[in-house]
Amino acid sequence: MNSNPKKDPERNWFGERHVSPDEKTGLVQGVFGSVSDSYDIMNDLMSGGLHRLWKDSFVRRIRPRGGLKYLDVAGGTGDIAFRIKKKAGPEADITICDLTHDMLRVGRDRAIDSGWLDDFEWTCGNAESLPFPDNHFDVYSIAFGLRNVTHIDTALKEAARVLKPGGRFFCLEFSHVENLFLSKAYGAYSNHIIPEIGAMVAKDEESYQYLIESIKKFPKQQDLAQRLQDSGLKNVSFSNLSAGIVAIHQGMKP
Ligand SMILES: C[S@@+](CC[C@H](N)C(=O)[O-])C[C@H]1O[C@@H](n2cnc3c(N)ncnc32)[C@H](O)[C@@H]1O
Repeated sequence: MNSNPKKDPERNWFGERHVSPDEKTGLVQGVFGSVSDSYDIMNDLMSGGLHRLWKDSFVRRIRPRGGLKYLDVAGGTGDIAFRIKKKAGPEADITICDLTHDMLRVGRDRAIDSGWLDDFEWTCGNAESLPFPDNHFDVYSIAFGLRNVTHIDTALKEAARVLKPGGRFFCLEFSHVENLFLSKAYGAYSNHIIPEIGAMVAKDEESYQYLIESIKKFPKQQDLAQRLQDSGLKNVSFSNLSAGIVAIHQGMKP
């Protein structure tokens, strides 16, 4: 364990607290176990529905089609997998992998409601040690998941491992707003409004406080791009959505 948080800027932080890596994974699981039932409604409330547009853009970038194997890591309640399914049609083979049973439970219930129960593989697993063979998937996606992972670089190497040569990697994540005025307005909103919505609607201010702090600790766009390259991905690029509130990073396994 690295006991110096300065040398280890995001890996061992849980919100504003410095914790051991093992502790962090358990705490993150606790947060998502606790918010799972209110997760979808909270997403709409906190982002004013914008998360739907970001996810639509993300999946458009993936350009889903039938006949490919998709892995959506930190897939939670299924928002990305369901969008891939809608675009790719019945021939797509889609696996959702998430650390938290309760998020997958909510996702499965949603799939049942849409008549899609048998159309997805639901797997409980950690992005840092994926329970899948090497060179297995054509597409790896992770949306609003990477910032919660304890060892980001380990997760990126796992992504590269499970992708087939030529397979594509996509990450959608909260990122960093460059514009100073916007950044201040966004900071005020995140610091004050989101935990209050969390307290009122989900009765869980602490979990939503963690979500805000985890956004602040996440690497900047250029830094994450470099780390994708260091993990063995090629043709790495990123683009900002909503002035950098979120960014899409992509790459390819050579
Ligand atoms: C903010 S939610 C995102 C869910 C979904 N991708 C979406 O966009 O709505 C983050 C998800 O990451 C999962 N998660 C956190 N750490 C993880 C890890 N190490 N491996 C796999 N999933 C993880 C959580 O359980 C949670 O479901």
